[in-house]
Amino acid sequence: MKPDISTEVGTIKIERPAMLASGILGISLDVFDRLYKDGAGAVVTKSLSKEPWEGYPNPTVVGVKTGYLNAVGLSNPGAPYFAKMISLNKTVPIIVSLVGSIPEDFVFMIKQFENVKILGYELNLSCPHVEKVGLEVGDDPELVHKIVKSVKSQSQVPVIAKVGLGSSDYLETVRIACESGVDAITAINTVRAMAIDVETTRPILSHKIGGLSGPAIKPIAVRCVYEISSKFDIPIIGCGGVSSWEDATEFIFAGASAVQIGSALVDKWVGVFSEINSGISKYMEKKNFSKIKEMVGIAKKF
Ligand SMILES: Cc1cc2nc3c(=O)[nH]c(=O)nc-3n(C[C@H](O)[C@H](O)[C@H](O)COP(=O)(O)O)c2cc1C
Repeated sequence: MKPDISTEVGTIKIERPAMLASGILGISLDVFDRLYKDGAGAVVTKSLSKEPWEGYPNPTVVGVKTGYLNAVGLSNPGAPYFAKMISLNKTVPIIVSLVGSIPEDFVFMIKQFENVKILGYELNLSCPHVEKVGLEVGDDPELVHKIVKSVKSQSQVPVIAKVGLGSSDYLETVRIACESGVDAITAINTVRAMAIDVETTRPILSHKIGGLSGPAIKPIAVRCVYEISSKFDIPIIGCGGVSSWEDATEFIFAGASAVQIGSALVDKWVGVFSEINSGISKYMEKKNFSKIKEMVGIAKKF
């Protein structure tokens, strides 16, 4: 029998284990539909704020040797506009990423999606380059507690917290999020980094410091998934440098039930999803795994 590559992240059921990561490929329902048809298990939207955000001036993205550095500044059209844009969604499993600085922001945004078909929310507690939101929220345990509690009390769908490496212990953020009732954790966001142009002597990104993504951060992300999975009983979505079925499988062995893909879409475009699906399926057949669940976290036994 062919192996079953569907997976469950807590109560979130998806047909395939790789999702689109937040912030990659914008916010168009047509594109989400295409990705889903071409093999993505789900898509995560760009992080949305209460009001539209313009983001930073260019340059906002630069390629470095082992990945990308970005400080886009979370530019987005705002949750109310986006909720209207996807209001006709019937088929695509969409996870809505939200960013804000106080619980009331999140409650307001959730109201916008009350009548829209979505799979869940992902709270961005980890953007490394926008002040007063993201990591600055993730680094504040009291605020994480209040935000997760408020969101959970309002949301009809599962809530995921996306964590990253800020200035406090990220495992503490995970602990608070879990205790406050979050349904799953996504780990990790980009890692604070910078690049300087030797000719002009200037930092390349307009925001100077940005977030590193791509293959460079994969071993860090695998380590985080492994640590979270070893310490907490919570479903995990692995993110950071996944570009092949081997990468996805590594995250699953570390403890992830699904993975997200961002930077790899730049090189491989949507083909990356079908490549991962068929690669994992063949591997499972070869190694006699019938379900993804049997593979989750098995590296922890050593
Ligand atoms: C251009 C760009 C924009 C991003 N925007 C967001 C965002 O809006 N919200 C978020 O949670 N993560 C955002 N991310 C982080 C990704 O979702 C992901 O966590 C990170 O890129 C690591 O995955 P990767 O190595 O597969 O790219 C962004 C990443 C990039 C490269």
